[in-house]
Amino acid sequence: AAGGRAAARPVRVWCDGCYDMVHYGHSNQLRQARAMGDYLIVGVHTDEEIAKHKGPPVFTQEERYKMVQAIKWVDEIAPGAPYVTTLETLDKYNCDFCVHGDDITLTIDGKDTYEEVKAAGRYRECKRTQGVSTTDLVGRMLLMTKAHHSNIDEDLDYRKHTDNFGKGPKGHSPWTGVSQFLQTSQKIIQFASGKEPQPGDTIIYVAGAFDLFHIGHVDFLEKVHQLAEKPYIIAGLHFDQEVNRYKGKNYPIMNIHERTLSVLACRYVSEVVIGAPYAVTADLLDHFRVTLVCHGMTEVVPDKDGSDPYEEPKRRGIFQLVDSGSNLTTDLIVQRIIKNRCCL
Ligand code: CTP
Ligand code: C5P
Repeated sequence: AAGGRAAARPVRVWCDGCYDMVHYGHSNQLRQARAMGDYLIVGVHTDEEIAKHKGPPVFTQEERYKMVQAIKWVDEIAPGAPYVTTLETLDKYNCDFCVHGDDITLTIDGKDTYEEVKAAGRYRECKRTQGVSTTDLVGRMLLMTKAHHSNIDEDLDYRKHTDNFGKGPKGHSPWTGVSQFLQTSQKIIQFASGKEPQPGDTIIYVAGAFDLFHIGHVDFLEKVHQLAEKPYIIAGLHFDQEVNRYKGKNYPIMNIHERTLSVLACRYVSEVVIGAPYAVTADLLDHFRVTLVCHGMTEVVPDKDGSDPYEEPKRRGIFQLVDSGSNLTTDLIVQRIIKNRCCL
């Protein structure tokens, strides 16, 4: 914010982008942008506009709008924002300046899409998050499926990874071990709500992989959020090795650190358990003073010993199935990527 402003007019910040396959890098950009002002508007391009400049997106505009809207630092979205950011757009939305990561975005003719706003001094830069991008995520997905559709014995790289699976000190999934992302306590603090449950809050516990945090997850958490007047949602994330046990293949695509940030960025979530036990035990329920446990309509895989992980909340009569209305899964996203790749 500019110093010495006379009136206390809120500083309105603008961001725009494709926000295809929204990840914690996008969330971190929006977090930084929001911190530069008081109100954040995010312009999201249409499918047509993206197709024109860099090829068709994986997710539809409706899906992309929903994902951006679910990020807690976003105050408003502007659907169908133009690819090139103009002063006209900033003025239309009454924004003081626009914020973009420190990477250059070019139009199809090789022009800087922020040329005009930069010249007018209405451009600010934030730090791009290292170790994650849509391209990188697509790469991880293709690597995973490639290994699964080829002769595994001949795929040395795959062998090397699977042979090491679970044997390393960190027990990482073979592919998320490829992630270049470095988790720090600072990152977690920046993303965390920092709020403790207040008297009168309904403490709701949900558990899962929350891999490649997507619209299915957002729809689910939104529905869960609607169950109480003052919900405090705790999301329990299973460790990579646990996820691999019940999802198979080389899941998860994102490691526990990445999944933690993705879920913390969601406006419906108040707290995350980083590496939750698969069985929702009495200890866990008592510790967090959980009054409701929810799960979507997706399959609940039994625990290692064949037992139902929700046995205890069911026994207490505090378990509820919630229909998210979305059938999207991480598996389906991977399938979509492969289909897209084949068409390009
Ligand atoms: N961004 C970021 N860190 C990342 C990825 C993106 O800060 N790891 C920022 C970009 O700098 C931009 C905003 O997110 O300001 C939206 O960018 P978008 O057009 O959606 O994404 P890309 O830059 O194409 O990112 P990706 O390659 O991940 O799709
Ligand atoms: O599959 P995952 O463990 O990531 O799911 C986390 C939670 O989100 C589960 O309760 C699951 O049922 C729910 N979900 C949903 N609708 C989807 C995808 C997931 O309700 N389309």
